[in-house]
Amino acid sequence: MKLKIKKIKNKKNKTPLICLTAYSKNISKILDKYCDIVLVGDSLANVLYGMKNTHKITLNTMIEHAKSVKLGIRKSLLVVDMPKNTYRNSKLALKNAKKIIKRTKCDAVKIENNSKNFSIIKTLTKSGIPVMGHIGFTPQYISKFKPVIYSKKDEKKLIHDSFKIEEAGAFSIVVECVSATISKKVTSNLKIPTIGIGASRFCDGQILVTDDLLGLSGFYPKFVKKYANLKKIIENSIQKYRKDVLNKRFPDKKNSF
Ligand code: KIV
Repeated sequence: MKLKIKKIKNKKNKTPLICLTAYSKNISKILDKYCDIVLVGDSLANVLYGMKNTHKITLNTMIEHAKSVKLGIRKSLLVVDMPKNTYRNSKLALKNAKKIIKRTKCDAVKIENNSKNFSIIKTLTKSGIPVMGHIGFTPQYISKFKPVIYSKKDEKKLIHDSFKIEEAGAFSIVVECVSATISKKVTSNLKIPTIGIGASRFCDGQILVTDDLLGLSGFYPKFVKKYANLKKIIENSIQKYRKDVLNKRFPDKKNSF
């Protein structure tokens, strides 16, 4: 695990980090070939469970999805989001992070910043649990997606918080929905890699929700680039299957015993 983390950290200022989310094995198996980091994001609350935000997703749901994702992982670093309320204090965070790692065999956990949980990150890292931070837009502490315009004061706070997260021992940090100016400053000020989502090309790496990139989720904010329209492809296939069944063209001899 230590070597994998070291490799990620060493890519700063050298090679952009390729990161994507996965919620199950069939996708993680594909991502593993091309990604440095695969994240089991709590975005699955919205994307898979149709919840209006990520606040109610449970630790057990995250663990079950992470177990499936792990089946497809051979070489990339597997990170699992700690859901809201599972790291309210150091003792609880340690208990739950250990549970996630033990049950899923993941490499690290991710914790969203609320400007008060630096000591919690420190407790985990001191206990040997690698932590990825998350600043900027932090869905666990906001109820609806809305890009924020940051003032100079907010900018200073983001820079300060990212420093504190690095100081607490995090090995990397997700920077979500901030301007290019801010992400550039945060990235150049830190020794650990920044991973941007809606945070410009000036981060050390990029992450997207895979279902968004593939055109499956139906949620495409400005920062998402749709690389495929899987919804259309799946629909076309299902329509063909339906027609074949209705017209008794499926199953034919080839598909029968
Ligand atoms: O939950 C998630 O998928 C995330 C990424 C968008 C970074 O936190």
